[in-house]
Amino acid sequence: MADEISVIGPGHMGTGITQVFLQVGYKVILVGRNKESLDKGAERLRTSMSKAIKKGSLNEREAEHMLNNLHLSSDYHDIENSILVMEAVSENLDIKTDVLKNAEAYVGNNSIIATNTSSIPIHKLGNGLKNRKRFLGMHFFNPVPVMKPIELIVSDETSEQAISDAKKIIDKLGKTAVMVNDYPGFIANRILMPFINEAIIALEKGAADKEGIDTIAKLGFNHPMGPLELADFIGLDVCKDIMDSIYAETGNPKFIPSDMLASLVKEGKLGRKSGEGFYTYEK
Ligand code: 3HC
Repeated sequence: MADEISVIGPGHMGTGITQVFLQVGYKVILVGRNKESLDKGAERLRTSMSKAIKKGSLNEREAEHMLNNLHLSSDYHDIENSILVMEAVSENLDIKTDVLKNAEAYVGNNSIIATNTSSIPIHKLGNGLKNRKRFLGMHFFNPVPVMKPIELIVSDETSEQAISDAKKIIDKLGKTAVMVNDYPGFIANRILMPFINEAIIALEKGAADKEGIDTIAKLGFNHPMGPLELADFIGLDVCKDIMDSIYAETGNPKFIPSDMLASLVKEGKLGRKSGEGFYTYEK
């Protein structure tokens, strides 16, 4: 029988994570708050799987098999046989802490509990747990089906067993685990967010137009997307939240979100998902 994994949170990251686990043969319990959020998540997953089929990384038979291995649930009792619980809910300390505590109450003692946080310190998220030895961070990158690395974030309390089990699972996904300590912003966002923020400041100060700034990064640094295009792709609210979180941890003013980023978020211009950020998008 296929090993079971639970993913809590049927949002953009949660459904991407669900897809990659299903793709390598796991049975996945996707847990959401209610039927509406689960239905939306299932729709998002089907759209993403169609893209994978178009790209040739998946065929129709495999897709059918994957959907047979997917179970949607809003009942935590269903996670009890999972070898790994992946928390992928909103990037908010209280919400995540609550979900993790709930998950711990239902899941078996030997299962790994992992968070997909992009910037909240692991030691803070683990505060509400009774057994922090099997708790760690597995930070997937967006778009999950395409991006190879996973930041494997461990605290002083994470056991060697949990680390080794998590590495085996990441290997099975065909992804690359990068061991990272519980450092503010970890590695990815500690580097990426000041880069994006600086590009926004350059735009704000009139150093170049948005296309110019993005072209420099694409042609000059060989990045697939420029920083402003990437910020729109990630979500400007997500970028701001990450900057706020790193600033709260470090107190270093270089992590204060730029005025332009803060105002765009305030105006509801969040990038691709809202139809407008630095660029405009068809919804
Ligand atoms: N399953 C599902 N979707 C797939 C797929 C698959 N196997 N293969 C491709 N796709 C999707 C792509 O995501 C893209 O989606 P979109 O329609 O929403 O843009 C679409 O299919 C087209 O893919 P292509 O490969 O044909 O298109 P591109 O060559 O334009 O590549 C891209 C798109 C992969 C997004 C590329 O532009 C890229 O690599 N961009 C940079 C992404 C990046 O830097 N991500 C890291 C963000 S930071 C992060 O995640 C950390 C977080 O904490 C903020």
